[in-house]
Amino acid sequence: MDDRIIIFDTTLRDGEQSPGATMNTAEKIRIASKLEDLGVDVIEAGFPAASPGDFDAVRQIASQITQSSVCGLARALPNDIRTCAEAVSVAKKPRLHTFVSTSDIHLEYQMRKSREEVLEIAHNAVSLAKSLCDDVEFSAMDASRSDRDYLCRVFETAIAAGARTLNIPDTVGYAIPEEFAALVSYVLKNTKNIDKAIVSVHCHNDLGLATANTLAAIRAGARQAEVAVNGIGERAGNTSFEEIVMALRTRNDLFKADTRIDTTKIYPVSRLVSMITGIMVQPNKAIVGANAFAHESGIHQDGMLKNPSTYEIMRPEAIGLHSSKLVLGKHSGKHAIKNYLKDMGYNLSDDELQGVFEKFKSLADRKKDITDEDLEALVNEGVLRSSDLFALEYLHISSGTTVDPIAHVKMLINGRSAEESCRGNGPIDAAYQAIAKLTRTSATLLRFSISALTDGTDAQGEVTVRLREGGLVALGRGSDLDIITASAKAYINGLNRLEYLKANPTSAPEAI
Ligand code: KIV
Ligand code: ZN
Repeated sequence: MDDRIIIFDTTLRDGEQSPGATMNTAEKIRIASKLEDLGVDVIEAGFPAASPGDFDAVRQIASQITQSSVCGLARALPNDIRTCAEAVSVAKKPRLHTFVSTSDIHLEYQMRKSREEVLEIAHNAVSLAKSLCDDVEFSAMDASRSDRDYLCRVFETAIAAGARTLNIPDTVGYAIPEEFAALVSYVLKNTKNIDKAIVSVHCHNDLGLATANTLAAIRAGARQAEVAVNGIGERAGNTSFEEIVMALRTRNDLFKADTRIDTTKIYPVSRLVSMITGIMVQPNKAIVGANAFAHESGIHQDGMLKNPSTYEIMRPEAIGLHSSKLVLGKHSGKHAIKNYLKDMGYNLSDDELQGVFEKFKSLADRKKDITDEDLEALVNEGVLRSSDLFALEYLHISSGTTVDPIAHVKMLINGRSAEESCRGNGPIDAAYQAIAKLTRTSATLLRFSISALTDGTDAQGEVTVRLREGGLVALGRGSDLDIITASAKAYINGLNRLEYLKANPTSAPEAI
């Protein structure tokens, strides 16, 4: 390896800005610790000034992560910067990331500031940040639509004030690879003190070019890539973590640069992020999609049997995908489950393991072979959702060709048991009406989707819902052998997320 690319992961910050993808503090800590295990250099843990909940999450992550730098984002405002510095101060390796827009369109219409005023804002913000935290990153928001010479002046000012990483965001996903690479080269050539800093890039995927732009920027000399697992993020998302890491690894002959990432842990982290956020990975998604290593055509299958390299540029094992989806059954013991989960990247406490094991036994009584996906779903529901406000205790449905669907639902509402029966247009409608009555929710169901977790008619159903209440949107996810129960779990999960959002309001950050 001639050179190393710094991986800056923003799943917990920009990724959380994906509509509906709110994560609670426990979920964020779980993802952060997996990112640390993966070998991520910098974890952007959140936006501490956005809300007390965000502050608390960043601070807790900062206090627990030791190998990766823990970064917080702050607008170029004194209060944001002070709050952010306090949140990351407990980290072994703290980083403060501050930003201001530099494009004329943002200056004129959003900020109503002149170029000279923004230069001063950048200088003051970085100086203050540097006085509170040694590792400062500065981003020029909407850099790809900014005047290049002005951008270089802003960067020069930020470096002089103490920034050691300069980030070039393609905030609106507008850039094209050659053009973006040329911008990086221009900044490297025309920013006087650039030798004191690392150039970073942060691309959005509005034109489907985030990965291409990031790779082109690396070829042009950028040494930090800002990415998010499964490519989640604002609007069409961010550059995908797994695509950048695997492109650099697979085409090392061309890039002659690599990362510190242990690629064999990519797949479990992708699944974890999808489980927690409720954002499904599309089947044809590069690297981590269900079809990414599936060969359908006869010619391809023939080649694969003769020699996998005929049609496969990466081995599935390289990303932690095991071809045999091994399989546990009703006689598997707790120890086997523990080891199997450990291989999948889950280190559970004794109590957590006991909870998952009990659910495993109950599932194994009903389903012969338990696969990775089944186990993950049990971890997701048994461990990640332990402190929910609403929980399903019991669901009974009566439905069929000759009866009106009726659901009887018993729930724990903030620790107290309550039950309700409702009729509906179908069994799911009946169950949802009963849950809505019990929880007194006014949330609207925006989307409902269902799929099978594995093959076969005994597969667990996996349901995802999108709910809206007032201005808040949340995703919910649930799985079960019984699809009505899976639907109820997804709805209840979405309602719990809405409750979390209500209890942790985020003040939508405005421009400076
Ligand atoms: O897209 C963007 O410009 C950002 C900055 C805050 C880095 O997310
Ligand atoms: Zn962004």
